Amino acid sequence: MAISTDNVMLALSRVIDPDLKKDLVSLGMIRNLQIKGKRISFTIYLTTPACPFKDSLKKACIQTIKENVDAGAETEIAFESRTLSGKKEDAEELLPGVKNIVAIASGKGGVGKSTVAANLALSLAASGAKVALVDADIYGPSVPIMFGAVDKELTSVEENGKVKVIPMEKYGISLMSIGFFVDASKALIWRGPMASGALKQLFTEVKWGELDYMFIDLPPGTGDIHLSLVQTLKLTGAVIVSTPQEVALADARKAVAMFENPKVGVKVLGMVENMAWFTPAELPENRYYLFGNGGCRKLANEMNIPFLGEIPIVQSVCQAGDNGEPAVLNEKNPAKSYFDDIAGKLASRISVVNAGAFTTVLNP
Ligand SMILES: Nc1ncnc2c1ncn2[C@@H]1O[C@H](COP(=O)(O)OP(=O)(O)O)[C@@H](O)[C@H]1O
Ligand SMILES: [Mg+2]
Repeated sequence: MAISTDNVMLALSRVIDPDLKKDLVSLGMIRNLQIKGKRISFTIYLTTPACPFKDSLKKACIQTIKENVDAGAETEIAFESRTLSGKKEDAEELLPGVKNIVAIASGKGGVGKSTVAANLALSLAASGAKVALVDADIYGPSVPIMFGAVDKELTSVEENGKVKVIPMEKYGISLMSIGFFVDASKALIWRGPMASGALKQLFTEVKWGELDYMFIDLPPGTGDIHLSLVQTLKLTGAVIVSTPQEVALADARKAVAMFENPKVGVKVLGMVENMAWFTPAELPENRYYLFGNGGCRKLANEMNIPFLGEIPIVQSVCQAGDNGEPAVLNEKNPAKSYFDDIAGKLASRISVVNAGAFTTVLNP
């Protein structure tokens, strides 16, 4: 077949996006197609820079052109992305520049919610997305320690007569924490309305600007504070973190029920199992399922929620958090690949949810 725009596009229309279940051409993902002799080049526009299928899409495109257009074609593919937004255009907007707000929640405390939130945020930022992490855990803010930002001072600007706080920048993401305003070493007693008011200010009185993903590290549990936050913000969805023990799973189930309650109406994007097993450094092949095996995956299946993946117990994950340099920043950390994998799956899932009923997901 001759190498022509039509023939190349026809061949590319055989490649299906694994998330959106439609072909790349009708999704409007193929752009800037250029042909010079046997050389074909184009750009694939992804719905998230963290797309886990980049390599397999590239291979499939090259293959289909060789098979259906010209076996001697030389195909060059670039990637660009435009993160899909989880907002409805007409929504009354508190944060108009933020495309996706994702709450990280758990039933119980201490399951690694903050650790998962921080590492997923950093992993997506490393793929090229603009990301923020908001630490809304009034009972145990941990962002200042996890990001080595305990003594850092916040700055502010005046905008239209209002003072707005500038988020802290660290490792390529924007950070805000209730812990930047209160002394985390003192036990604080928050009455419900006071806590909700303070938390709301993290969104209304901070200059957030344009973001692809904003992660909110929620307090553990399912109380009024959660409800008022969830109702103030237009969330794309929530991720539930649990450990495999029955006691943690029982509370995770409650968290899912809260979000999915029709009055709350927040989609659960998926579940993550943290501390899934332990592998000692000196026996890298051995897995010890200290808290039981596969409980979270089973619960996710039962509740019809996507299971996004599991993270083992790794001593250096804990140390990395304490030292202010989360695990995914270190190429050698054995947990990094698990966090990166979950971040990719979550980004895919968000794209799918946002793509909804659109046929062309990317407007030129
Ligand atoms: N996969 C893991 N391996 C080892 N330690 C972990 C892991 N996940 C979390 N931790 C550690 O467990 C403790 C609790 O985690 P944290 O993220 O603060 O939980 P939460 O926010 O749910 O209360 C922290 O010291 C953290 O470093
Ligand atoms: Mg926490």
